[in-house]
Amino acid sequence: MAPLTRMRADRASFAPRPLNAEYYGQRATPDGLLIAEASPVMVTGRGNPGTPGIYSDAQIAGWRGVADAVHAKGGLIFLQLWHVGRVSHSSFQPGGVLPVAPSAVAITGNGMLAMTSDGKMVPYETPRALETEEVGQVVEAFRQAAVNAKQAGFDGVEIHGANGYLLEQFLQSHSNLRTDRYGGSIENRARLLLEIVEAAIGVWGASRVGLRLSPYGIANGSGEADPMPLYTHVIKALDRLGLAYLHFIEPRSSGAGRAEVNWQNVPSAMVLFRPVWRGVLISAGGFTGETAEAAIAQGHADAIAFGRIFISNPDLPRRLQHGFPLTPYNRATFYGGEEIGYTDYPAYGELESA
Ligand SMILES: Cc1cc2nc3c(=O)[nH]c(=O)nc-3n(C[C@H](O)[C@H](O)[C@H](O)COP(=O)(O)O)c2cc1C
Repeated sequence: MAPLTRMRADRASFAPRPLNAEYYGQRATPDGLLIAEASPVMVTGRGNPGTPGIYSDAQIAGWRGVADAVHAKGGLIFLQLWHVGRVSHSSFQPGGVLPVAPSAVAITGNGMLAMTSDGKMVPYETPRALETEEVGQVVEAFRQAAVNAKQAGFDGVEIHGANGYLLEQFLQSHSNLRTDRYGGSIENRARLLLEIVEAAIGVWGASRVGLRLSPYGIANGSGEADPMPLYTHVIKALDRLGLAYLHFIEPRSSGAGRAEVNWQNVPSAMVLFRPVWRGVLISAGGFTGETAEAAIAQGHADAIAFGRIFISNPDLPRRLQHGFPLTPYNRATFYGGEEIGYTDYPAYGELESA
């Protein structure tokens, strides 16, 4: 299961609740890997209401309930570690200050809007550039979050380097105008991501750390003019580290957001970068059971992660295995709310036998 932000944590503590444990438990299968939704590693990393964090004791305790529910069914669960950077709004920030980013560059463009803490859509503010010393604090927050995830009983962590969030903002030249050791050359722009991956490896060992990237993606104002040199550098540097996996979001479909998109004739991340990555490669983005099998058979990926169809089919692996029909998902209940559109999708056959 691909990481899926569902915005249903406790509204005050941002701790996962028993409802969240039920949801993940429904989707667990023996040896199946679930990647839990993106979780801010520090309070400045927040940018959405109801997203669970991994920086407080209450959040660690809440996540333990989730991990236990998955393990009770023999499943595995990684936590995705997140900092949204400029994809935030001052209403989420302590003291109402501006969100932080590599540089003071706002997200602009057609229909690009920020969400406030009370769910309104407004233009993005211009973020504040992190001081060089503060970048070290971000690395430390990811390291501590990796420790917290271990304490919560996860099986590993995935670093969120995709979809226009902080680590991608550092990678890409349009959002990173820095002149210190974290900006300028490709080596410098990749430094923060690599420092964070190494910090997580220090906690977990490389075989329990994954990384998500979305080269050629356009989510949240992202987009490197020429992604090949940048991402080739990053992926080659990571290839030496022996990570659990590299996980792509195919540019044809980020899956998230308010509207369905399925771009045609766009590059395929797995096809482009498979030759420079020797480790396990996972990809996601608009796959069906058949196209997933074909991608694996053709050697483009070792595994495929499913997002949207896992929302509406809690028993997705079984359905794909047996060719059972899929329940369509309802985008209106993706983000926020309670059990409707979350834990009330039936397993195949459950309705008929009820
Ligand atoms: C509701 C929703 C929330 C998502 N949240 C995240 C997230 O927290 N982290 C992430 O890396 N990707 C996120 N994505 C992207 C998915 O992980 C996945 O890559 C995307 O949906 C494409 O796969 P699919 O076509 O199987 O849905 C989200 C997608 C959706 C639909």
